Amino acid sequence: MDQEEIKQEIRRMARERNALLLAHNYQRDEVQEIADITGDSLALSMEAARTDREVIVFCGVHFMAESASILAPDKIVLLPRLDAGCPMADMVTPEGLRRMKAEHPGATVVTYVNSSADVKAESDICCTSSNAVNVVRSVKTEEVILVPDRNLGKYIAAHTDKTCHLWEGYCPTHDRLLVSDVRRAQKEHPDALFMAHPECPPEILEMADHICSTSGMYDYARKSPAKKFIVGTEAGILYRLRRENPDKEFFLPTSRLICPNMKLTSLEDILKSLQTMSPEITVPADIREKAKVTLDRMLAVPRDAG
Ligand code: 13P
Ligand code: SF4
Repeated sequence: MDQEEIKQEIRRMARERNALLLAHNYQRDEVQEIADITGDSLALSMEAARTDREVIVFCGVHFMAESASILAPDKIVLLPRLDAGCPMADMVTPEGLRRMKAEHPGATVVTYVNSSADVKAESDICCTSSNAVNVVRSVKTEEVILVPDRNLGKYIAAHTDKTCHLWEGYCPTHDRLLVSDVRRAQKEHPDALFMAHPECPPEILEMADHICSTSGMYDYARKSPAKKFIVGTEAGILYRLRRENPDKEFFLPTSRLICPNMKLTSLEDILKSLQTMSPEITVPADIREKAKVTLDRMLAVPRDAG
């Protein structure tokens, strides 16, 4: 089958299985093109909970499919590539977090959604890159433990008056963006604005005109009168940025901004997943219930809290 035939067969199988295809903003272009909905990790999990389709094909990484299963336990959640993980999410374990909690017994544990269900279940509340500052401001304690991203943690610490204890995790993709990469791009495109994801190191965030989540970048690019943007996040975001803003230009500061895990899922994998109804992602009930509390608490935080 050629690529067009595979796309048609995916659409046919999705109808037959009553399946919704979700793709994260970092997926390959052809995967984003075939998806019913593209978005950031939390928005996609909420779509999974909202849909009346029986099957969710989650084109993303493992923790995202887990979040979908936590929020939509009655649905079949498929992750076409079981080996698509998130190295940052894997940098913290429930045992490690329990040790850190024992060191700071009065602190609230605020956990980035890029984490396993087990780690969420050990936490008090979740956050995403778009609501992290609001979530931390909303908690009652003066001390917080921020897990697992040290870069997002430093960003939050700089924007709240809480005492922040940071886990030393990081995203290998965002963490390899260098000041020299951004300087070179700014020299090549002096009239471009620089937008950066808070998973980038602090010295990169200091250079940014705007710091936001992946979904925040779509809003910023659309609303800004600027015509050129340097984009400090994973390359997959360019697909929709360029499609939605044909009169604007977008540049990556380096070709190294590729998350290998996000690029694993191919059209062939999606078709196979629909044909075999596997790999299915499930979360044990006890973990699911505890993890859901942390997501529900986050969703209850008003957008302008604090
Ligand atoms: P979002 O929460 O913006 O989807 O980001 C997820 C991610 O993996 C960022 O590296
Ligand atoms: Fe994880 Fe980074 Fe890949 Fe996002 S870009 S999935 S945080 S490794």
